[in-house]
Amino acid sequence: MGTILKTKDLTKKYDNKIVVDNLNLTIEEGEIFGLLGPNGAGKSTTMNMICGIVKPTLGDVEFHGKDFDKHRKELIGELGYIPQELAIHGNLKAWENVELFTSLYGINGAELKKRIDESLEYVGLLGKRNDYAKTFSGGMKRRLNIACAIGHHPNLLIFDEPTVGIDPQSRNFILDKIRESNRNGATVIYTSHYMEEVEAICTRIAIMDNGKIIATGTAEELKKKVVDDTSKITLEEVFLTLTGKKLRDY
Ligand SMILES: Nc1ncnc2c1ncn2[C@@H]1O[C@H](COP(=O)(O)OP(=O)(O)OP(=O)(O)O)[C@@H](O)[C@H]1O
Ligand SMILES: [Mg+2]
Repeated sequence: MGTILKTKDLTKKYDNKIVVDNLNLTIEEGEIFGLLGPNGAGKSTTMNMICGIVKPTLGDVEFHGKDFDKHRKELIGELGYIPQELAIHGNLKAWENVELFTSLYGINGAELKKRIDESLEYVGLLGKRNDYAKTFSGGMKRRLNIACAIGHHPNLLIFDEPTVGIDPQSRNFILDKIRESNRNGATVIYTSHYMEEVEAICTRIAIMDNGKIIATGTAEELKKKVVDDTSKITLEEVFLTLTGKKLRDY
């Protein structure tokens, strides 16, 4: 097991406002790494820079020790990105959505057909393969969004708030699938402002606020930064103590 991903001084400015500030993150193979922060903390911008969708103002991303920007063609297939904004097409059937994304990685013919059904089965949508995505519920759309990102068998899965606005059943299904992918060998980066989800599934957590990482560690280590008796505090309270802010409004 080694380091899978490193960000080096990763920085993004929009109109002179720094939204991601000098981020140095190291993700080890086999982790479920949680990036926890309130709305506007810079989580999606960080993920978009990692995936090469947003160009950093400064800094680099290293993937398996190689500069991701310079070795993009070679490395892109190792990455599976499930964006916060749904990247599916309502006027395509479920299987066509998965085909669209999976075929981008050069997979075709019988292998492509196999991967499409395997991906749909994985997210529990095989029975809906011929239905148009626009007819799906919010939770089903989220699941299809995941299927589109896994057909090329990536080693690193990046989930950006995959459970926002969906029913508890779909939410638990997605969290179980993330754990299952991790057990099957995938490294996971999981972005959320739901403290309880991050605490439930992540092996290590970084707390982000105003574009900066404030603290990194296991849930237990983060709690230890604030109190000795960690049974007396939640991650929510850790966040409040470290930042003076609530993680989200209830
Ligand atoms: N294209 C853009 N142009 C200008 N400002 C932007 C752009 N994208 C993001 N921002 C700003 O950067 C900051 C960080 O946004 P980002 O979407 O990364 O936060 P986030 O942590 O993902 O929030 P959320 O939990 O709401 O998804 C916000 O203040 C946002 O308004
Ligand atoms: Mg976001």
